[in-house]
Amino acid sequence: MAMDRRQVLTRFWQFGIVLVAGAGLWTTWDLLRPTGASGFGAKIRTVPPDSVPEEGAVEVSVARSYLVNIEGDVRALSWKCTHLGCRVPFCESSGRFECPCHGSVFNRAGDLLSGPSPRGMDEHPIEVGDDGLIYIDTGTTVEGPPPGTETIDEPALGPSCTEGGHG
Ligand code: FES
Repeated sequence: MAMDRRQVLTRFWQFGIVLVAGAGLWTTWDLLRPTGASGFGAKIRTVPPDSVPEEGAVEVSVARSYLVNIEGDVRALSWKCTHLGCRVPFCESSGRFECPCHGSVFNRAGDLLSGPSPRGMDEHPIEVGDDGLIYIDTGTTVEGPPPGTETIDEPALGPSCTEGGHG
């Protein structure tokens, strides 16, 4: 009888260990899986492609990005500076991205024009969903182009925001 009881208890503990291991795995998966369709790291639903103008940049805060329309090609540029990670604002007066931290300047296509950044602005892939809206894949980052790359020739529209101008 005592042996039977011991066996039952052993089984009970084995079962408990399996349950705990299962719960741990579930929790880990729950923490690591993509965060649905809303937060940074997920695919962020934004706007239809034709609502991204051919001038300026559309800020998408939740994606920490800007949508730009470069000659009909809509792209999502990360606002995280490729130098030391400051948030790079778009300067309305110059029509360029200008980092306030150490002065890196990028054109509207994200190419590095000047400053200490080692490359142009990083980019997140986009896709147009069945609903006709642009989704920014913030879980994937493509490194910006090397210095010297200039895919567009857009002169500054006006004064810089970081050199005494007003954005
Ligand atoms: S963090 Fe942008 S230039 Fe240094």
